[in-house]
Amino acid sequence: MPHIVILAGDGIGPEIMEQALAVLARVNQRFELGLTWEHHLLGGCAIDAAGVPLPPATLAAAKAADAILLGAVGGPRWESIERSLRPERGLLAIRAELGLFANLRPALLYPQLAAASTLKPEVVSGLDLLIVRELTGGIYFGQPRGVRILDNGEREGYNTDVYRETEIQRIARVAFDLARLRNRRVLSVDKANVLEVTELWKEVVTEVAKDYPDVQLSHMYVDNAAMQLVRAPKQFDVIVTGNLFGDILSDEAAMLTGSIGMLPSASLDAQGKGMYEPCHGSAPDIAGKDVANPLATILSAAMMLRYTFHQEAAAQAIEHAVGKVLDQGWRTADILSAGTQRVGTREMGAAVVAALE
Ligand code: IPM
Ligand code: MG
Repeated sequence: MPHIVILAGDGIGPEIMEQALAVLARVNQRFELGLTWEHHLLGGCAIDAAGVPLPPATLAAAKAADAILLGAVGGPRWESIERSLRPERGLLAIRAELGLFANLRPALLYPQLAAASTLKPEVVSGLDLLIVRELTGGIYFGQPRGVRILDNGEREGYNTDVYRETEIQRIARVAFDLARLRNRRVLSVDKANVLEVTELWKEVVTEVAKDYPDVQLSHMYVDNAAMQLVRAPKQFDVIVTGNLFGDILSDEAAMLTGSIGMLPSASLDAQGKGMYEPCHGSAPDIAGKDVANPLATILSAAMMLRYTFHQEAAAQAIEHAVGKVLDQGWRTADILSAGTQRVGTREMGAAVVAALE
């Protein structure tokens, strides 16, 4: 039986997950997927219950599962504890332990939400780009790292940005393979004019491109890419980049679509096993208030059905249901615009389940 580990996490995590599971339960039944799932702790809730952000039981269950669906982790309650024990460390550790190096973050603008974007509708309408972010290397994991005391007593913080050739090659291949399913264009983002590590990145991506003569490769410095994303985002198809640049550019790309509350993501290993999560965080300020947008988590469940379970029809059923709910004018607070109807987290989830019928 295909088995999923559910990590609802902290903040709005549990409430958005509840809605995603209601949707998943419905498609599970309708498409006879035979999916089963169990809940485990990750992040702040795991610190409270077990003293660490990634308890061994969670890691073991995640390793044994076919896929993982995650809500969000972190919150102010855990910000003052020792660095190595913070909720985010649990998330980084599970990505590293499971070898989830390929992070796919599609930024797709639902036409119904063109008015919710802070950019002009003509700039964003029709937007459909995919950020492929390297997720288990770069400055997020490079050694040495830390904060040290200098001879004069001053503190100095330091991190190391590091990428091996093989790490660059495998993420580049993911990007080129995915481009073949789309518009056959890959943009590699670097800061090769300053950083050696990204100069190597650019070289290696260029070498890998030789195996994909049917895909057009171009390069851009990250500062320019950040600017182009708000200037003319429709020029992009697939963007491949390292861990830190990918983190930043994916939040930027998310806002083009109206709200980060709409963006799902997949983090895959070399075999296509994956962890699926919304791109947004735990939003502690609105947690428990029934206002969070559950659509990014619902769409993450759809990505899980597509990429890990190869259930394209079920994945599309969820995506169509989301489109239908937006057509009907239902909006959570983050995507509200003139002439639409505000609903809460639960109502939004229920509307998607109803739209599946
Ligand atoms: C993300 C998040 C994480 C990251 C944080 C919570 C550690 O911002 O998934 O984009 O930086 O990778
Ligand atoms: Mg981020």
